[in-house]
Amino acid sequence: MSSTSPRAGIVIAIDGPAASGKSSTARAVAAALGYRHLDSGAFYRALTLALLRSGIPEQEWDSLTASDLAQLQVAGVAEAGGYLFRIGSEEVTGEIRSPAVSASVSRVAAIPAVRDWLLGTLRAAGAKGGLVADGRDIGTVVFPDAELKVFLVCAPQERALRRLREQGDASASVEDIRAEAERLRTRDHLDSSREVAPLLRAADAITLDTTGLAFNSQVDAILRLARTRAGG
Ligand code: DC
Repeated sequence: MSSTSPRAGIVIAIDGPAASGKSSTARAVAAALGYRHLDSGAFYRALTLALLRSGIPEQEWDSLTASDLAQLQVAGVAEAGGYLFRIGSEEVTGEIRSPAVSASVSRVAAIPAVRDWLLGTLRAAGAKGGLVADGRDIGTVVFPDAELKVFLVCAPQERALRRLREQGDASASVEDIRAEAERLRTRDHLDSSREVAPLLRAADAITLDTTGLAFNSQVDAILRLARTRAGG
């Protein structure tokens, strides 16, 4: 029955390293196309918040089972072009970017049971099409059949500058930028060489180098590709 219902659009996967502007680009592309935006990192963050609140000692996180994870009652609820997050009946969307969550989320995202468990949730979000998803393994693992895969790259110096501005530091010194770029290079290396779900460019992804490109230009470049792939 449902196999005959038309899909609401294509699936677009946007991957790339830290501070490459994946989420803001994906959000703008989704808004322009009337698609939903799925920020996969936000799901890892919501689960991390629930784990921190659960009182389960960190030493036990590696042995968590799918049923332990289900008991945390984390839900991503589709709303207004994106997702909001609940733990039980409480909405926690505003808390998933707290420093405590940011400090633990990479550790949680490296637990194989967590990745397996979230895979089903993330895939279900794309079942009807009309989705722009961003993350680290969207084009390789989550949506290997996505109609359009984009891999964003950008020079570390520029990513450093963007990140510092995002954090409200409008007058960063050359030294600050250099130090931030070095931190990003180290993270790139760790993300690409880790054993669990490393950051990898899908063989059929289009690489978009956003160094020196204005935000609107990078969004437009993806929209042009999307319209060609969607056949409209
Ligand atoms: O993009 P972000 O900083 O909100 O991502 C949070 C964490 O989740 C980050 O440590 C990388 C990880 N992550 C991942 O491993 N796989 C994804 N598809 C998305 C995020």
